[in-house]
Order: sequence, then structure tokens, then C-alpha cells
Amino acid sequence: MSVADSKVVSEDEGGTARIAAEFAGRLQPGDLILLVGEVGAGKSTFVRSALRELGVEGPIPSPTFTIGRAYRGRVPAFHLDLYRLELPAEEVPDLLGEYLDPSGITFVEWPDRPMGNLFDSPRRIGRVEIRHLDGDRREIRLSEPVSPD
Ligand SMILES: Nc1ncnc2c1ncn2[C@@H]1O[C@H](COP(=O)(O)OP(=O)(O)OP(=O)(O)O)[C@@H](O)[C@H]1O
Ligand SMILES: [Mg+2]
Repeated sequence: MSVADSKVVSEDEGGTARIAAEFAGRLQPGDLILLVGEVGAGKSTFVRSALRELGVEGPIPSPTFTIGRAYRGRVPAFHLDLYRLELPAEEVPDLLGEYLDPSGITFVEWPDRPMGNLFDSPRRIGRVEIRHLDGDRREIRLSEPVSPD
């Protein structure tokens, strides 16, 4: 782990919400945050609290079926869930372009889905990895956004 990485344990959903809010407080416009972890790990839960911290009001449903959702907080904010994305890689950047507005902050669940060169942009990229422990406990690894080399 580099100095910009940390590993914390969340005891319950509220714990994940607090960790997410703290993480979001350090984000800047243009940041792209990749969320990794199995189904039900708490990725959407994390993003919901991060979006609240960024000033988003109103419902924040999981975008599993819609692929993407756009919000307006203090900055434009976007939530993508690529789990169900089944497209030829070359069509993806066009379709998802509106969610990658570089003046905003974008959160992406299931970023390992084939996406062409969607992320070949000079944006700072951060990573959140959530792993089930026992019961409601989760291990959360946070990598603060860093600029590409
Ligand atoms: N410590 C915890 N952190 C986050 N969620 C928790 C925790 N403990 C229990 N939960 C519950 O686990 C579920 C996590 O669901 P969530 O939709 O956030 O997962 P996900 O990783 O986004 O899954 P998917 O891959 O299906 O999108 C919620 O029902 C939440 O209440
Ligand atoms: Mg989810």
C-alpha cells in the first residue's frame, strides 16, 4: 500500500456511510472513483453517502438497471454501475460520455467490465475496495485519487 492508501473496518452500514462521507470530503472535480467488491458488499451504500456529502439531495437509487445516473450537488456527480453493461467496447465511450463530464466527480461500480478506452483520460483515479468480513462487518481499502503518470 502506498501512503495514499488506507484500510479500515466498517462495523455496519452507518460505519460505511461515515467512511464514505470522509473520503468524499477530500475529492475534487474531475476525480474518477472505481468501486470494487462482490454483490452486496456495499458499493452503492458507499456511493450514496459520498454523494450526500457532495451535496446531492433527493433519492439516490442504485443504478444497476439504468447503468448511469447524473446528479447535481456542489459539483456535477455521476454514479455508474456497469454490471449489466453488454455492449461492444467501442460503443461504450459515446454512450457513457455524459457521465464522464470532467468537471464533475464520477463513481463507477464494476469497473472491470469491458469498456474500451473509457478510462484513458488524464483524470485522477481513486479506488475503493470493499470485502465482506463476518455479519455486517466490511473491510474497506481506500486509495486516494492520484493523477495518471
Ligand atoms: N457494513 C456495511 N456496509 C455497507 N452495507 C452494509 C453493511 N452491513 C450491511 N450492509 C447491507 O449490505 C447491503 C449492501 O448493498 P449495496 O447495494 O450497497 O451493495 P453493492 O456492493 O452496491 O452491490 P451490487 O454489486 O449488487 O451493486 C445493503 O443492504 C446494506 O444495508
Ligand atoms: Mg451497487
